Amino acid sequence: MNIFVLTGAGVSAESGLGTFRDTSGLWTRFDPAKLATPEAFKRDPAQVNAFYDARRANLRGAQPNAAHFALADLQRRLAETGGRLFLCTQNIDDLHERAGAQHVVHMHGELFKARCPGCEAVVDWRDDLSGARCADCGGGLRPHVVWFGETPLEMDAIYDALEEADLFVAIGTSGSVYPAAGFVSEARRAGIRTCEINLDPSDNARAFDERRYGVASEMVPAWVEDVLGGR
Ligand code: OAD
Repeated sequence: MNIFVLTGAGVSAESGLGTFRDTSGLWTRFDPAKLATPEAFKRDPAQVNAFYDARRANLRGAQPNAAHFALADLQRRLAETGGRLFLCTQNIDDLHERAGAQHVVHMHGELFKARCPGCEAVVDWRDDLSGARCADCGGGLRPHVVWFGETPLEMDAIYDALEEADLFVAIGTSGSVYPAAGFVSEARRAGIRTCEINLDPSDNARAFDERRYGVASEMVPAWVEDVLGGR
């Protein structure tokens, strides 16, 4: 079996990392136009860096939860039987990897990496970024995250994997940010079965063949058991 899983902030919510659009979500408390656009970084790099420095500090103290571990387990067990779990995440945290998942595609970038806008070098970065310079060209580094108005990463590989999948599953995402929110329509067009696992119905819940609602730490392990048990 070949499964394409798309995860969003809901999968990491129980690890203590904030979601974006819930009542206490990041974009309810902070203005993304001032923190998550190339223009904002140009205008006030210190403010943008401080926001991502705080998120990096949060992530350093967070641990993967049962949903991350269940997906890593599913990936391992599918690979053992000649199948595949293509794990695509909108999350910039590394909790899938820390739970043991391999080849995670981070379409919105990675918080523990920094990029030089001048020479495009990408480097591992776990500490505060404020004032950091590129070791290659001396330019000011920026977080290696995709901001509003920028193109998500690895889109060709993502659409190829979607076309080859037997099942598309969206987990913990509000379905309101494109292009990820459009994957379910792409899957339907390709005749692939679709499933949503979320706390509550997402913006495009009606597009899914199957819907499972509850917290990811319970719903994802239960779904993995069903998949492995052939249900
Ligand atoms: P959102 O905050 O928009 O949506 C999170 C979804 O997870 C919501 O539908 C919640 O109901 C659900 N949820 C919350 N807690 C949950 C739990 N314990 N178990 C299961 N589901 C839960 O986050 P995303 O859809 O990931 O992009 O947001 C997409 C993108 O918007 C992000 O990657 C980010 C943001 O702007 C960038 O920063 C580029």
